[in-house]
Amino acid sequence: MDTSVIPPTLASHLPTTLLIDGEWGASSTRTTFEVSNPATEESLFDVSDASPADGLRALDAAAGAAAQWRTTPPRVRSDVLREVFDVITVRAADIAALITAECGKPFAESQAEVAYGAEFIRWYSEQAVRSPGLVRTAPAGTGTQLVRSRPVGPALLITPWNFPLAMVTRKIAPALAAGCTVVIKPARLTPLTTLYVAEIVREALASRGLPAGVINVVPTSSSGAVTEPILADPRLRKLSFTGSTQVGQGLLRAAATGVLRTSMELGGNAPFLVFADADLDAAVSGAMTAKMRNSGQTCVAANRFLVEASVAEEFTERLRAAFDALVVGDGSVPDVTVGPLIEAAAVDKVDAAVQQAVDDGARVRIGGSAPSGTGHFYLPTVLSDVSPESVVVTEETFGPVAPVVTFGSEEEALQLANGTEYGLVAYAYTRDLGRAMRLTEEIEAGMIGINRGLVSDASAPFGGLKHSGLGREGGEAGIEEYLETVYVAM
Ligand code: SIN
Repeated sequence: MDTSVIPPTLASHLPTTLLIDGEWGASSTRTTFEVSNPATEESLFDVSDASPADGLRALDAAAGAAAQWRTTPPRVRSDVLREVFDVITVRAADIAALITAECGKPFAESQAEVAYGAEFIRWYSEQAVRSPGLVRTAPAGTGTQLVRSRPVGPALLITPWNFPLAMVTRKIAPALAAGCTVVIKPARLTPLTTLYVAEIVREALASRGLPAGVINVVPTSSSGAVTEPILADPRLRKLSFTGSTQVGQGLLRAAATGVLRTSMELGGNAPFLVFADADLDAAVSGAMTAKMRNSGQTCVAANRFLVEASVAEEFTERLRAAFDALVVGDGSVPDVTVGPLIEAAAVDKVDAAVQQAVDDGARVRIGGSAPSGTGHFYLPTVLSDVSPESVVVTEETFGPVAPVVTFGSEEEALQLANGTEYGLVAYAYTRDLGRAMRLTEEIEAGMIGINRGLVSDASAPFGGLKHSGLGREGGEAGIEEYLETVYVAM
């Protein structure tokens, strides 16, 4: 095993088993699965592989702790979260090294993820004490209406591999703040950061004598086998999932049986619109952020660049030059700005999309292939003259590829932008305020960046329209996903 990129103090204390009811332990089958570094392809750790029975034991623990946790004073829940925020912040460098080791992103990006992920914990430590409610006289004067909130109950949280910290904290923080207990099923490819953070939460609970079953973690290599029995169990009341639309649709079908509350953050196909009146320097800088975070492996990655024809060549050339300045390599090496993709299959998928675009007539301006050697790398790629029908435009690429498609009018730009079943995020660069306001009304996306290449913020409602999902994470809306409303007529 090569744990050399993980600080030794962390490597020697890193839990690699299941957390159920406050106890770390092996899976019932005693089996493990390997977690490896996508830059070196070397093994990092063997992690306990939860079985379906382990999943149900975790739900037993979450259900058993539910009554005590929901009646734990909000201020105490808030204090637990605040302590977790403080510990994550103190250990930020170690956690960032762990993220880079298992996910591959450059260390500076991992540090940014730690700050982003920790902020969800801080935000919800502050929201925990602001439970929404309402008292008013009924309009007919016939009585009083009391509207109050209650935690929805035990929640299953299924997290993706692309932000091993932030996608977990984005779910556990509002859940715990609302008074829900949780079972976390982390991504098979990146469970280590989740396990580390779960230990921080466990310690914060244990030091206050709070119930151990509030947080449970079941890493597994066979996701469906473990989550299906949990979803079928009537004690579960909430499912939160981040991942592909296809998997999300299957989970929604499973959640229908128990009529579960669901939050689904699914796939995207973000358009990045550049109008002729845009500040092109700002547009290129925003494009680099929107495209290259985590080598393009984010649901909010700009997937297609829609550029007004009169500035298309200039924008494409400037983007090519910016891509040329990137340094591809192992994210733990200083100065590297683009890490690997998560696994070999991801490289194959990206390359197939690029080659198909070229077959459809696209021109490779830079990149366009996977470098030879160790690691799951793909060269940052800019394509021009891309057909709007090419897969690299119609499907989420999840890689460092920027296809440029041109448009002639605002109307055409909108048609292209909305011509997808997805609706997570859109970006637009223009100096025309009237146009910007029209776009915010017309673009079919749950989030819109105007002259901004990054919309993600723990205090803002993150989520999509159409096939991109249901519900919101972050901000005031995020905690409501874990609360149910009870109306009392008095
Ligand atoms: C995602 O890729 O699912 C989330 C990205 C973000 O929060 O910025």
